[in-house]
Amino acid sequence: MSGSLEAAAKDHLVRYGGDTFPNLFTKARGTVVTDSQGREYLDFTSGQMCATIGHNHPAIVEAVHRAGEKAFHFFSGMIPEVVAELAQVLARDWLPGDLTKTIFVNTGSEATEVALRMAKMYTGGYEVLALGGSWHGITGGASSVSMASDRKGYGVPAPGVFVIPEPNAYRPYFPGMDEEAAALANLDLALKLYDMQSAGKGAAIIVEPVISAGGVLVPPRSFLVALRQAADARGMLLIFDEAQTAFGRIGTRTGAEHFDVVPDIMTMSKTLGGGLPLAAVATTAAIEADIYEKHFTYYTSHVSDPLTAEVGLAVLKVIEQEKLVDRANAMGAYLRGRFEDLQQRYEVIGDVRGLGLLIGVELVTDRVSRSPAHALGALTTRKCFEKGLSMNIRRRPERGSVWRIAPPLTVSTNEIDRAVEILEAALRESLDEIAAGGTA
Ligand SMILES: Cc1ncc(COP(=O)(O)O)c(C=O)c1O
Repeated sequence: MSGSLEAAAKDHLVRYGGDTFPNLFTKARGTVVTDSQGREYLDFTSGQMCATIGHNHPAIVEAVHRAGEKAFHFFSGMIPEVVAELAQVLARDWLPGDLTKTIFVNTGSEATEVALRMAKMYTGGYEVLALGGSWHGITGGASSVSMASDRKGYGVPAPGVFVIPEPNAYRPYFPGMDEEAAALANLDLALKLYDMQSAGKGAAIIVEPVISAGGVLVPPRSFLVALRQAADARGMLLIFDEAQTAFGRIGTRTGAEHFDVVPDIMTMSKTLGGGLPLAAVATTAAIEADIYEKHFTYYTSHVSDPLTAEVGLAVLKVIEQEKLVDRANAMGAYLRGRFEDLQQRYEVIGDVRGLGLLIGVELVTDRVSRSPAHALGALTTRKCFEKGLSMNIRRRPERGSVWRIAPPLTVSTNEIDRAVEILEAALRESLDEIAAGGTA
């Protein structure tokens, strides 16, 4: 059966760039995903960072059944009870400051579109400042503010986007400065250039609290404080894209909480749906009232869907009940310790960084030149997969080669030990092959 379906996949599916595995997959539970040959893999990507409470958590399965008893979907104009409840729980238990109003959509890309539309309507402007290495999604507006995306070949991006160099302590644009001074100097220069170029139509500054696709870069707090001040000084709104950082992954409820900086608009996705397509955008009552007066619209066939809201509520409940925010810190410290131990023994592991269970491990040819070890990164990632560990590698020619390690917050120490064992074996084999003049 599966052989013929592999052929069907080849014959009938559009290759979308992310479809890197030759296998087809059938099942996912907790940290483990299974392919059609019955082979199991530890999923240290949390299924593209969505299965934060583990794949197919029983609470999610129950929530889907519950929605089946009630309703999966309504006309977009009808607000389901469960959607009102989810908005209330977010405002009461999860969101920082006065972010009390939320809209529910499907994907992180869509959430970015909503946030940008809100900011443009509120300010009357259209200019957006985004960071180098950012990833806010694949749709039109979102990809315009995403510098880690493949931007070539898709026509004209939305005009009015300006780039702030991303803070990168390991690979700074101006070596020699300390991390914080370098981040602030880059921002200062970017703002001076923006002010020169601006048509006076500023709308927003958008940032991921941890710049993930750009290499798991954790900015200094002062950088986010300075972005807050830069937005205020220009009458622009500050948007935090918390697709990856919200709901416990980094060991706090949100990135805003970790950095103690409150944005005007926060986007959330991934974890919230636990694997189902649910995203949310929160803002203040004042901004919501203003754009309402201006006839703000955003609806799709699946705005405010009851099915995904039922699941979102269940996910948040599990995070509370299983104390997963604390667990992200505890297991994150353990996992990080294991990588720091590897770093002692392998010259090619140049940097280990991150927060909670969002960890970046940067590979270099040697620690003096810090040249990105792209071939090693690709080879090791492939070998890991062959040995039963799925993980993500972020590779950009202009940046480093960074493993992004982000297992579910429910991961066990045994699973971590097994993953590190696989990873070390894959690394050793890859180094031997490269030294022997093999594939690299
Ligand atoms: C920070 C961030 N924002 C937005 C997105 C886009 O989300 P989606 O893929 O659900 O459209 C992603 C996806 O990886 C992301 O990491």
